[in-house]
Amino acid sequence: MRVADMRDIVRLERPELDLDRRVLRRCHNVEDLRRAARRRLPRGAFDYIDGGAEDERSAADNVAAFAEQRLHPATLRGVDDVDMTTTILGQRAALPLALAPTGFTRMAHTDGELAVARSAADGDVPYTLSTMGTVSLEDVAASADADLWFQLYIWRDRGLSRELVDRAAAGGYRVLMITVDTPVPGRRERDLANGFTIPPALRPGSLLDMAAHPRWWTRLLRGRPITFANVSAGDRQGPAGVMAFVAAQFDPRVTWDDIAEVRAAWRGPLVLKGIVTPDDADRAVDVGADGVVLSNHGGRQLDRTVAPLRVLPAVRDRVGDRLELLVDSGVRRGADVAIAVAMGASVCLIGRAYLYGLAVAGRAGVDHVLGLFTSQLRTTMQLCGVASIAELRERGPQLVRPA
Ligand code: FNR
Repeated sequence: MRVADMRDIVRLERPELDLDRRVLRRCHNVEDLRRAARRRLPRGAFDYIDGGAEDERSAADNVAAFAEQRLHPATLRGVDDVDMTTTILGQRAALPLALAPTGFTRMAHTDGELAVARSAADGDVPYTLSTMGTVSLEDVAASADADLWFQLYIWRDRGLSRELVDRAAAGGYRVLMITVDTPVPGRRERDLANGFTIPPALRPGSLLDMAAHPRWWTRLLRGRPITFANVSAGDRQGPAGVMAFVAAQFDPRVTWDDIAEVRAAWRGPLVLKGIVTPDDADRAVDVGADGVVLSNHGGRQLDRTVAPLRVLPAVRDRVGDRLELLVDSGVRRGADVAIAVAMGASVCLIGRAYLYGLAVAGRAGVDHVLGLFTSQLRTTMQLCGVASIAELRERGPQLVRPA
């Protein structure tokens, strides 16, 4: 049989020559990307992204909390098209999704924060740059026309934090997100076991690792060093210096008074990230916050912290519509977003999900993740017979119940 004749029997597919795109084509969900990222990254870098604190009970329970919910779809509602657009803290987005702040993003891929911010701009979802960014906030703002948010740590050096707030305002960042679940760094034991450092240290074993992950190492060695880009002092950029500096800056003395001070200085929307109780959500209202991120930092801070999804209904009951409720930790699928919104969330944030994509294929990998969430959410809504995000909220109590 000639090849031309085969066309009638089978569809001949053009081979994908680009390795990254070939891998992406085989990734149909975030877990596929996670497995691909594990193969692509040196162990220390993968574990830094993937790991949680101590026994990783919170990290696992975050995912389980979503898995335990069941959908009760309505049929025959003629949902031909769904409108996934929504307004997040006053600005329209393509879907109720935002990209969470992740420190040292260039460990996943040297294109780092720039790739993520550009992907967010094209996908029309907000991107939050971390205080611990590996690209400066000015460079991110200059190269991505996204809805940019800035995540702030209130540090021991309050002057440095104030300076970052001013720079974020000058750089056009729209939302300020203060992370409040980090009085001290969490104990991430995988990092301790791997002797993880930023920038990565060259050790005797590194040569073997280079042979196993040549593309990651080549990019690292050819690219700009991975540094703490928002602080310029030269002595903080040495191999031990960056981590030691960051660890020393976490401040267990931070209180609500510090939040009130930042509130007075920041004119745009203010969000507190890392709250998991109705009482704290109440206090966030009192201090003048516009929203809170119900979050346990992806299980990377206090292990055994309750999964944010489990407290969402109680927090929504308490605060009503006085606060926007953003939810993260364990969001891996469009269906998770639908479930959170149905249970009272304004929007979900993803952290690891986009980092896995970034690790696999840089910008194209993050695009792939956003594409997955978009199509998964659309399918979930159509199968549930829901035509818009407003309807998802309204019919939430009928749609989602625990298993
Ligand atoms: C984070 N997270 C985080 N949060 C924050 O406020 N500032 C930061 O610098 C970081 N850094 C960071 C690095 C890495 C590698 C990860 C995975 C996470 C937490 C992040 O914003 C978010 O809360 C979680 O990632 C959400 O959980 P999932 O989506 O990863 O399950």
